[in-house]
Amino acid sequence: MQLTILSIESSCDETAVSIIKALKDDQGNITKINILAHEVESQNESHAPFGGVVPEVAARDHLAKIYDITNTALTKAKIKNSELNAIAVTMGPGLIGALMVGVLFARGLALSLQIPLISVNHVDAHLAPALLLKKFTPKNDINIWHETQKISFPALALTVSGGHCHLSLLKSIQEKTILGKSLDDACGEAFDKVAKLLGLNYPGGPFIEVLAKEAELKGNTNEFSFPSKPSNKENRYNFSYSGIKTAVMEVIRKETGIKKGKITGKDLSIEKKQSIAYAFQQAAINQLYDRVENALKDNPEIQTILIAGGVAQNLKFREIFSSINKQVIFAPPSLCSDNATMIGLQALLNSNQNGFNDHPYAKYF
Ligand code: KG4
Ligand code: ZN
Repeated sequence: MQLTILSIESSCDETAVSIIKALKDDQGNITKINILAHEVESQNESHAPFGGVVPEVAARDHLAKIYDITNTALTKAKIKNSELNAIAVTMGPGLIGALMVGVLFARGLALSLQIPLISVNHVDAHLAPALLLKKFTPKNDINIWHETQKISFPALALTVSGGHCHLSLLKSIQEKTILGKSLDDACGEAFDKVAKLLGLNYPGGPFIEVLAKEAELKGNTNEFSFPSKPSNKENRYNFSYSGIKTAVMEVIRKETGIKKGKITGKDLSIEKKQSIAYAFQQAAINQLYDRVENALKDNPEIQTILIAGGVAQNLKFREIFSSINKQVIFAPPSLCSDNATMIGLQALLNSNQNGFNDHPYAKYF
């Protein structure tokens, strides 16, 4: 069976539309995937002056762009509307105004084309590229048939993004149990907040990574160290990042002598910023590693580790996790940050043997 889906993502600060084709065998397994269009427009520039995402700005930006981006995706995919089998859309979690733009647009499309509307959970969808695709670069892999991944289960899945930090156990693609979540800030959020304290741009993760690399190249890796584990010892799987962020703030106050008020990083030398970025990044990654180690100790039957989400683009993170003595599968870097291809892939994973169940009103929204 061949299925073609147009998918929409608008839960936060990326407006994205993708069109994918997939082949399913008689058992309902997805065997091949072809990404015909992968359009992502980031709102980073709109939110950068505020140092974080402003919900009202995000919703207005989606509204301004979603029609044109969809049109571009349809033109690039060179398919007729009648070839689409379903529309898939992120139904949550996310910013309510931002989600509403995507969901209502998707409803209108599904209604006018008289095809099913599939509502997709955004956090589940982050994992879908790791479950299905060995590689994908928007430059080289558009309109190419990809064989799907062969995953050995049970698998441990770590999703680390700006809004979420989830550790889950998967007995199969469909059977997922969440082991741990963030008790306060998500890991990516902590990268963004620490970046703001250091006077770096939004989103801060990539800038922290660059500074940390510079510290490493200069050998400045021992000047600071931050606590990597949450103080609550009872839970072996949950995450907590607000403590590390506060520790960074205290170090900056000490280094700059600014006892009260806003910290902007402008009184820190570049060397200090590099050393702090390095120590923070190590602590942030060590906490993720520690939680994964606990899960592996408690569940020795785990065969595979799946890693996804915006933070999974970090090369230090990839290097450290690659050393684990299991099959470690990272989502392709271009599908780690928010995009609509992951929404289409998750819709495929949610589909049954005969295709899609109709959710004409994205009823879980
Ligand atoms: O998955 P994503 O695009 O959005 C959410 O669903 O939240 O993740 C965005 C997050 C941001 O917090 C960003 O700073 C972080 O991913 N990020 C990184 C890197 N690239 C993006 N964090 C650390 N290192 C990176 N290279
Ligand atoms: Zn996301």
